[in-house]
Amino acid sequence: MGTVKWLSSPEDFEFLRQNIESLRDPSKPIISVCVSTGCVALGAWRVMEAFKAELEKQDLKDAVKIIETGCVGFCEQGPRVTIYPEEICYFKVKPEDVPEIVSKTICGKKIVKRLLYKDPATGRGVKKLEDIPFYKHQLRLLLENNAKTNPKSIEDYIALGGYSSIIKALFEMTPERVLEEVKKANLRGRGGGGFQAGLKWENTRNSPGEPKYVIANCDEGDPGAFMDRTLMESSPHSVIEGLTIGAYAIGANQGFVYVRDEYPIAVKNICTAIKQAEEYGLLGENIMSSGFSFSVKVHKGAGAFVSGESSALMAAIEGKVGAPRPKYVHTAVRGIWDKPSCLNNVKTWANVPLIILRGADWFSSIGTKGSSGTKIFSLVGNVNNTGLVEVPMGITLRDLIFKIGGGIRGGKKFKAVQTGGPSGGFISEEWLDLPVDFDELSKVGSMMGSGGMVVMDEETCMVDAARYFVDFLLEESCGKCTPCREGLRVLSKVLNDICEGKGNPKDIKTIKDIAETMKYASLCALGRTAVNPVLTSLKYFRDEWTQHINKKRCTAKACKDLINYYIDPEKCKACLLCFRECPIGAVEGGKGQAQWINQEKCVKCGACYEICSLDAVKKLSGEPIPSVIPKTMKPIRKGGK
Ligand SMILES: Cc1cc2nc3c(=O)[nH]c(=O)nc-3n(C[C@H](O)[C@H](O)[C@H](O)COP(=O)(O)O)c2cc1C
Ligand code: FES
Repeated sequence: MGTVKWLSSPEDFEFLRQNIESLRDPSKPIISVCVSTGCVALGAWRVMEAFKAELEKQDLKDAVKIIETGCVGFCEQGPRVTIYPEEICYFKVKPEDVPEIVSKTICGKKIVKRLLYKDPATGRGVKKLEDIPFYKHQLRLLLENNAKTNPKSIEDYIALGGYSSIIKALFEMTPERVLEEVKKANLRGRGGGGFQAGLKWENTRNSPGEPKYVIANCDEGDPGAFMDRTLMESSPHSVIEGLTIGAYAIGANQGFVYVRDEYPIAVKNICTAIKQAEEYGLLGENIMSSGFSFSVKVHKGAGAFVSGESSALMAAIEGKVGAPRPKYVHTAVRGIWDKPSCLNNVKTWANVPLIILRGADWFSSIGTKGSSGTKIFSLVGNVNNTGLVEVPMGITLRDLIFKIGGGIRGGKKFKAVQTGGPSGGFISEEWLDLPVDFDELSKVGSMMGSGGMVVMDEETCMVDAARYFVDFLLEESCGKCTPCREGLRVLSKVLNDICEGKGNPKDIKTIKDIAETMKYASLCALGRTAVNPVLTSLKYFRDEWTQHINKKRCTAKACKDLINYYIDPEKCKACLLCFRECPIGAVEGGKGQAQWINQEKCVKCGACYEICSLDAVKKLSGEPIPSVIPKTMKPIRKGGK
């Protein structure tokens, strides 16, 4: 580009923007390859190398642009490649597919049909991303440009309107106006309890003490969640821009991005983005001669779930152990080094440039009355389409799970969905038409949290699921306060007993008593919300608990200690597959005889059950195992009869 590097005024910025624009040739083919974590794990870099080699081989290096881009959310279908300007989206691309893509699509303008996403309803290939059912019902504001931009290129971000909001804020609005706009937009925090961002900004601004700090929370330790990591990997400049606008409104000159060290691409991309913004003068002293100075440091988190809590995170930034403190005084008043500090989730910050550019009225026209805008969820578990989805607040759980998620995997029945991470509640089928927003989810005993959404099918045991999350939280509790430390320990013991068939009717009362104490007396929200999965499981799936405790029966047939495998001699054809598959020799019988399972030896690994295609191996729970008299098979003739 070579002209402007250091921006000393909005005019410089406009000149740079036009310069970037003029260098773009909209008719030039672009191959965009996703190099976010999901696609990288599935071989995206090998695909990228294959494209480079093929373009070189076909002498197309200068005629075709190839870019590394962020995540579009449908990671299970990766590696994802999009060809512009036609916007043809290919999934599950392998290096071997590359020569054909270049010859057919780039040179011949034809589609390689087998690489298109197949609509399960029609069986037809879908060319464009937005026509795929997974995307049709989404409203993508934060994730919109991920396939079009290289997250390591500030020029790509600027080309699509990036950093225009900071210009608007710094040169057309006072800090108070910015604050009012964010309050009016009713932007609620995207990382936890949904506290109003504008109010938190105002509290920090009005709290006595200098300097003030702003912080972006990208700790994201919830199992199965990857919204924040993906946003940081794919659109780091939007976080920086939002953070800078917030700092301007609050009166802070120093910001921190707290990011988990286990997210190497996110760490790398945010560091690159900060460096680039500094080089252009979009961060640093006297930004574009506005009189406002702001710099950002990255703090790498050591990977403890509890360190995502605000006071714990701030302690970690100070170099102390990342454990929570009592918050009689909020961190907005006394945060990092006892100075007023405003912590928001990365998604909260990334929404700010949109609000400033398009206005509070536009933002609050999306979503519900109490929860404006969109929300990103990582939709995982037993759904057909897993991935990252961005939807308007107020969409129903049914639409999210069945229209976007494509329904339950393997044609099974829906049982529950957990929203809000490990401390979120389980929501049962009767609530499928619930509009998803902060307040509605709380009403049914769950919460929005940061955006984890785990779908469970009929084969999930809800007692076992509660046990799983209690055990996770027990592992992650900092141990500082007694209700959380001891409460979780006792809950785990009771739940383990119930799942192992040692439950007692009194256990329910014990659980309720402990839950009550933990809710009110725990030091931080980890302990206060840890009981949500247990209480909602009890509330909506009481029968499963009763069966476990009174009948030693797991209706979902998931609790290992409450199940037995049995081979139905009438169905067994002595194919010996289970006999060979059993790792400890518990299947007995031998050639030409119906097989049977030696219950003394069986470790209940389920290998026989998985391998049997004749439905001869049965799972039993809470019922007697029929005694088996070895049956000699009739000789089996060729042809199967
Ligand atoms: C145990 C625990 C872990 C948390 N982890 C995160 C996290 O990973 N990311 C996050 O944004 N908020 C997390 N929070 C919520 C934060 O304390 C805080 O409320 C949030 O970062 C504020 O941002 P928001 O208002 O934009 O949501 C956690 C809270 C608790 C109690
Ligand atoms: S990582 Fe490539 S689509 Fe998500």
